[in-house]
Amino acid sequence: MSSLIIHGGVGTISNKKELLEKIHVILKEGSEMLSSGASAVDVVEYCVIRLEDDEFFNAGKGSVLNEGGSVELDAAIMSGDFLMAGATAGVRGIKNPISLARTIMEKSEHVFLVGAGAEDFAGSHGLKKMPDSYFVTSKRVEQWEAAKSAGVTTLDHAEKGDSEKKYGTVGAVALDDKGKLAAATSTGGIVNKKFGRVGDSPIIGAGVYADNNTCAVSATGIGEHILRTVLAKDIADRVRFEGMTAQEAAQKGIDYLVEQVDGKAGVIVIDKNGKCGVSFSTPDMVYGGVCNGITMET
Ligand code: GLY
Repeated sequence: MSSLIIHGGVGTISNKKELLEKIHVILKEGSEMLSSGASAVDVVEYCVIRLEDDEFFNAGKGSVLNEGGSVELDAAIMSGDFLMAGATAGVRGIKNPISLARTIMEKSEHVFLVGAGAEDFAGSHGLKKMPDSYFVTSKRVEQWEAAKSAGVTTLDHAEKGDSEKKYGTVGAVALDDKGKLAAATSTGGIVNKKFGRVGDSPIIGAGVYADNNTCAVSATGIGEHILRTVLAKDIADRVRFEGMTAQEAAQKGIDYLVEQVDGKAGVIVIDKNGKCGVSFSTPDMVYGGVCNGITMET
């Protein structure tokens, strides 16, 4: 048996139906890969590439813009085998940052490469680059101009005047038929972010974590809250030390986030038995999952 969950962000989501349709197409493709014997790490990378390539999600193409009107991307991937991990932050022009993270995991002696060095590494490993115009959509320019003129750093896809926002990031967690877990997370971050700002998504143990002995986790939400509570590792530790299921650990992790920092976030979790967990402290979350052959209600 295998399991897969993917997500496309949390918040108040006005176009949920449209986003869920996209999520379910990718979920079906990823589930078919798992059924055909693909590894968990191949499947989470594949699902996140599909989300990065879709401009409706805040990752890769269609990411939010920073203070200077540019797209800067963060991503990380983790394999539950030997706690292998790769991460990148603040990169520009890389079509699929999640593939850069995987290449760092597999082809470098390091875990985390940022900025120009990461871009050079991507170039030397033949990863696809795209011009700025590929990433920047008119919707994101409008959103950025509204944030600039209001003098605020907004937290993602919010329409002007929304009291709650959609905190976009994409992610996937999977268990394959060999009992291996993997997690992947990718984001453009937050609207009008300051140069150099990095959130939780590329930080191992915050926005992403996987260990074959416990669970795989991908987070979404306000990066600063997730970083301060080291949310993904907090959830994995609840499985490891308290024997919780994926759902119990996801719920307890989000409870802790709310208690400690009044945090706004969501998580998807698959444990080593293929059980699934989803929890969020925002009004809504976009996700879909197939857990040990059973499709989750969304
Ligand atoms: N959770 C994505 C970010 O805060 O950058």
